[in-house]
Amino acid sequence: MIDASSFRGCSKWAKCVSMVMLVPDQLLANELGHRAAFPTSTQMELQRTTMKILRKLLAYARRRDIPVEKSIVKSEYLNWLRFANAGMMNNGNVRSMFHAIQNLPSDAPIVEIGSFCGLSTNIMTYFKERLALKNKLITCDRWKFEGAEADVPLGDSEHVMHSDYREYVKDSYIRNISIFSRYDMPYTVELFSDEFFDAWNEQRTEEDVVGRPIELGGPISFCFVDGNHSYEYAKRDFENADRHLETNGFILFDDSGDATDWEVCRVVKEVQKSSRYELVARNPNYLFKKVA
Ligand SMILES: C[S@@+](CC[C@H](N)C(=O)[O-])C[C@H]1O[C@@H](n2cnc3c(N)ncnc32)[C@H](O)[C@@H]1O
Repeated sequence: MIDASSFRGCSKWAKCVSMVMLVPDQLLANELGHRAAFPTSTQMELQRTTMKILRKLLAYARRRDIPVEKSIVKSEYLNWLRFANAGMMNNGNVRSMFHAIQNLPSDAPIVEIGSFCGLSTNIMTYFKERLALKNKLITCDRWKFEGAEADVPLGDSEHVMHSDYREYVKDSYIRNISIFSRYDMPYTVELFSDEFFDAWNEQRTEEDVVGRPIELGGPISFCFVDGNHSYEYAKRDFENADRHLETNGFILFDDSGDATDWEVCRVVKEVQKSSRYELVARNPNYLFKKVA
């Protein structure tokens, strides 16, 4: 049975963690009147849920946010945009984007890796307009989703294929930027980020998704990394962006919060160790400023 003596000599944190891990298990054992030799599936499920809650609490306690006027994040325009434009954008990202765009070191381009239906792209265009900035916004996406073969059905659908979905998302992207960013159209090239940075390194001119030429290359003032979230890809996206990111420029990693399981979390931990980067926000995603 669990009692006060079980935690004698433990640190405060160890006690908390042990309590959270053990109590559901022990409650069940107490209930059954004995301790099971192996955890039952209910016990394991309870422990998993408890761990999830604990991670969320820890991530919340470690949050570091930036003050951004509420009227910006909660603007009526953004509300309407977010109803109509599909995407997954948390308010922390919106604050970080505004902060980065408000503090850009120069008029060098902003780069986005992974555009999906254009929600983040349109939000960045809106912030550029609010701040009267002329930095080009250049994005890349091939709309080829991880683990989604073109001729495979979408889930258990008998009628819709992944190729239909891809075409729909790409068309939605073009339609969304053509409406919401029509006064300052971003340049989007249909490339994976590795190909995009190769083109950037070679200062190639590419055709964007609406047929305009765009000359790539040169310094980058802000990079939003939201493509393939695996360690290998996110790390390479960071290294490629880092090569061109200006001092005092920003880099924001989507889905990098401490409570998530995305491998990009490992990348942000590594960036945090570098003396060349300063953590600006963790709300919950990591926004860094390049300081050297
Ligand atoms: C989470 S969505 C992006 C969401 C978008 N940034 C937003 O917030 O509205 C991820 C996108 O990354 C794209 N993607 C995946 N791997 C990529 C890669 N290696 N290079 C560029 N884009 C990639 C996918 O096609 C998908 O559209």
